[in-house]
Amino acid sequence: MDITRRNLLAASGLGALGMMGYAGLTQPLGNTVLTKSASGLADRDMPRPYRAAFRPLPRLAPYQVLTDADGVRVERYSVTARAGTASILPKYTTPVIGYNGMVPGPTISVERGTQVRLRVRNGLTGVRHASHADHESISLSTHLHGHASAPEFDGYAGDLTGPGYYKEYVYENDQAARSIWYHDHASHQTTMNVYSGLAAQYLIHDEVERALLPQGDFDVPLTLCDMMFEADGRVRFDDDEHSGVWGDVVLVNGQPWPVMQVQRRVYRFRLLNASMSRSYRPYLSTGEPVHMVATDGGLMPVSRPVTRWRHSPAERYEFLVDFSRYAPGTTVRLRNASNPKNVDFDHTDEIMAFTVTDAPVDTSDPTWRAIPQTLASSEVMSLDPATSRRRRRLHLKRNDQTNIWNINEETWSDVVASGYTRVLANPGLGDVETWDLETSSGGWFHPLHVHLVDFKILSRNGRPPFDYERGPKDVAYVGPDELVRVLMRFDRRGKYMVHCHNLPHEDHDMMHQFAVGLTPGQPDAHDPITTAPALLDTFPPDA
Ligand code: C2O
Ligand code: CU
Ligand code: CU
Repeated sequence: MDITRRNLLAASGLGALGMMGYAGLTQPLGNTVLTKSASGLADRDMPRPYRAAFRPLPRLAPYQVLTDADGVRVERYSVTARAGTASILPKYTTPVIGYNGMVPGPTISVERGTQVRLRVRNGLTGVRHASHADHESISLSTHLHGHASAPEFDGYAGDLTGPGYYKEYVYENDQAARSIWYHDHASHQTTMNVYSGLAAQYLIHDEVERALLPQGDFDVPLTLCDMMFEADGRVRFDDDEHSGVWGDVVLVNGQPWPVMQVQRRVYRFRLLNASMSRSYRPYLSTGEPVHMVATDGGLMPVSRPVTRWRHSPAERYEFLVDFSRYAPGTTVRLRNASNPKNVDFDHTDEIMAFTVTDAPVDTSDPTWRAIPQTLASSEVMSLDPATSRRRRRLHLKRNDQTNIWNINEETWSDVVASGYTRVLANPGLGDVETWDLETSSGGWFHPLHVHLVDFKILSRNGRPPFDYERGPKDVAYVGPDELVRVLMRFDRRGKYMVHCHNLPHEDHDMMHQFAVGLTPGQPDAHDPITTAPALLDTFPPDA
């Protein structure tokens, strides 16, 4: 699949002016040279695949560990959103905005049952996004995506932390082990905030996962995204009239198309697609399958060999690769076959590479050569569709007059205009429901994310789900003209968001909310905006 920018624009009926406006195209109109890059970098300054070394993600250490009155271990962390620089390109440094100035941000890794108190400080006084028309100050709201947080700690889009303020988020981490992530969620600023760098992984470990899967150096979180750059190395932003941000440089853990040295043994990868819009269809260049072991909400009931899979923004897949099959010196690439509606460039068909070394193999743990079949059951994967109380339909589409994306003809602006009272659904506390997530018109794909819950995908267009998505999920890839039926239980009272995770779609304005166990007009003890507001930051500046 190789959709060039020009083909896409032609197909979408955008004229030559729209195209000229894109990416500073200097080719005269009618020139048959296709746009093969989105960046404004000179050709010699463009990074190329497989020249950069792989870098593991940095870890964040708690600044305090204590035991509370109930004997629960509490770890306190602090991150400051601030301006920094990243070394992505061979010749230039790139200004970014990241947690502690780092892109991707520092990974938090905790044991299940540990309470985390994460202080997020907005150190962006006087900082503006590098892009054009955006002169607003930068407010933040932090969402721990994949964790059933209390509503006041869930990164509600209207629960803002302005420059010079901080908010302390409390996370119980009482769910099964999973690969999740924290990222910004501020109303209508989410795309710019996340694209600038405000995203990081967050791992919950437990005994079940430890007994089955590689740990430590062989448990490798990968954060994937795509970006484009200006001629001077700054990040370029273009959301193609709110349809998507399509970068021409693929980054893994902040490095373009990196190469990782691996031992001849089994590795576990936790692949997060943190792209704004791009979905991937990863596969190994050897043609051999990976072994899918976990989805968004943790372990699958059984592992599945998978040769390629669709991977939308915000989805996480954990898989095992057995490098003992390859002779030392072999290079195995993780490539991208793409999916309809993405805009592809010369090198967006490559992701990263692994070079198999003859280094001594660490066999100290039985997981070094195990591909376990039976993994772990979970509450959501055992849910019986017969217990569903009701079925709802969420229709995802664009209003072609206004160019605004919506869910059932409503938007987040409608929620705001209602004083945050309008809801799309109001399940009772503990109710099981079936939701039909449906696209039509124009054939777009929408990664639909439901906050609070893990769900089970029952079917796609009436057929069984793909092998790789037979595990707990919180994002459903709703492909062009697809109807995805999901089943879930709502176990926490309060208001939560539901939205498309193509971030320009989310910001413009494909987001709504649902309320669990609330009676309209009655006070909400967990009002997401007023319960735990941001406070003035008087802590000393950090390093
Ligand atoms: Cu990852 Cu509501 O988002
Ligand atoms: Cu979420
Ligand atoms: Cu969308």
